Amino acid sequence: MDNTRANPRGHPRLKPYNPIKRGYLALEAWFNVSFTPAWNPLYHLGTLAFFFLWVVLISGLYLFIFFNISTHGAYASVERITHEQWYLGGVMRSLHRYASDAAMLMILLHMFREFALDRYRGFRWYSWLTGVPTLWMVVLLGITGYWLVWDLLAQYVAIGSSRLMDAVPIFPEAMTRNFLAGHLSDRFFILMGFLHLLGQPMILVFMLWFHVRRLSQVEINPPRGLAIGSFIALLGLSLAMPAISHAPADLSRVPAVLNLDWFYLNIYPLLDYWTAGETWLLTTGITLFLMLMPWLPWRRTGPAAVVDLNHCNGCGQCFADCPFDAISLQKRTDGARWEYEVAVTPELCAACGICMGSCPSSNPLRRAETVLKTGIDMPQLPIHEIRARTQSLLAQLGSSPSPRILIFGCEHGFDVTRLNSTDTLGMRLFCAGMLPPTLIEYALKNGADGVLVTGCRASDCYFRFGNKWLAGRIAGMRKPVLRSRVDPQRLKIHGAAETDGARLKRELAAFRQSLLGLQTEPGASRADRGVDHVG
Ligand code: HEM
Repeated sequence: MDNTRANPRGHPRLKPYNPIKRGYLALEAWFNVSFTPAWNPLYHLGTLAFFFLWVVLISGLYLFIFFNISTHGAYASVERITHEQWYLGGVMRSLHRYASDAAMLMILLHMFREFALDRYRGFRWYSWLTGVPTLWMVVLLGITGYWLVWDLLAQYVAIGSSRLMDAVPIFPEAMTRNFLAGHLSDRFFILMGFLHLLGQPMILVFMLWFHVRRLSQVEINPPRGLAIGSFIALLGLSLAMPAISHAPADLSRVPAVLNLDWFYLNIYPLLDYWTAGETWLLTTGITLFLMLMPWLPWRRTGPAAVVDLNHCNGCGQCFADCPFDAISLQKRTDGARWEYEVAVTPELCAACGICMGSCPSSNPLRRAETVLKTGIDMPQLPIHEIRARTQSLLAQLGSSPSPRILIFGCEHGFDVTRLNSTDTLGMRLFCAGMLPPTLIEYALKNGADGVLVTGCRASDCYFRFGNKWLAGRIAGMRKPVLRSRVDPQRLKIHGAAETDGARLKRELAAFRQSLLGLQTEPGASRADRGVDHVG
């Protein structure tokens, strides 16, 4: 078996050079140094967007108490909130404005990240596709928000929006008629208020639920420190640069200089140059293109995990570990004495193999069978194949005098086969979470002096939880646990993205050095550890 030429799925080993991905990974590495991986905001863009939307909601509720929903009263009420109550109402208004901008910035970065790291195609098509209309819903919420202030900017937005709506022949009356009498009717204004205060937020909540419903254990809150830090930054900005209105709307005037919010109102300046039809064409085209991106081109997901009821006792560990809700726990159907069994929904399966790593039956130390079987397995790289490859690599490591190191790496991190040498060999799995802890024990018992496991970078896993579950299993916090008989000094875990080769090599050298120290310690030789060799 030639482990160096092909990855486990049989694709060419080298991934195409992707400058966007490499640039983005470099940026994240830089943020890791400044913020630590646990607090790196670039790993929490979706949850930060949620957090800012919470700030928008709470500050919005406060503003609503004092807001007058009428064309004649709106502007004055906002002015009172801003100036008479600057210490609370004014701050709330600024928080509302700046948190909206921050939410949009997070959403755009979140979207860019999924694209840059190629996490939008294949099994992720659903999250991407549902994200695009969600983005538009946030934009619409911002537009109706600006409208409610009823200042010159609101007037500009209102007239631009009416031109856009009138270009779509779905309304019985032209929207611009609302402005003909020289003022906006209260009925229409109340409709905007209803949309902004109730209709759009409710639709947004539903869309967000829809957006994440195919993921399991979705976190919607960022780490507390990050949330507190972001809030302090927003508060500081609100105090330093309070949000203020333009002059009151005056339909007899054409607004001259306006401070546009480019996060939300970027389409409107186009209307100065283009017809409404052309503007629609551009925005619809961009939206459709974004929605179709997962298919341009489509990324094939490997075959789904397969359950073998003969080896499944329905413990539910794979059900708990699956990051994509692809596994369900159901009543036993085969008459076996266990109460439950698991079932895979193939359309939801990301083929990450985490379920195989979490199955207690995925135990290469079981010697009874000729072909090792487990409760849930990956057809393209089953557990018996992994054991056979491990055996083959251990045999190739032979009797090297220097510490013999076996590396298990993830397909989405650094390509570990590039670290191959006389005393070091690497094997690629789909995800670090695919590794059953007993395989580490197996490798150490059968000739490896040390095992290095490397997945994606810490706090960032291509399959969401592979790193986290692996760390839990090794620490004895999550089943199946690494047994305590394994010498922890012979195991190293270090996450590395595909651009982190130099750092991984340094970690490997340090690990090798520490193993050398162990080998010279009395009583730490392989023979003393009762090592039985393969073959
Ligand atoms: C209000 C807007 C949005 C919010 C609050 C939001 C939030 C989230 C959250 C919390 C997750 C789950 C992350 C995890 O637990 O691993 C997620 C996943 C995802 N989002 Fe968004 N999102 C938004 C908009 C978008 C947009 C506009 C796109 C792209 C068009 C997008 C693309 C994705 C993708 C591809 C995933 C899947 C990530 C994965 O499977 O690991 N999202 N989003």
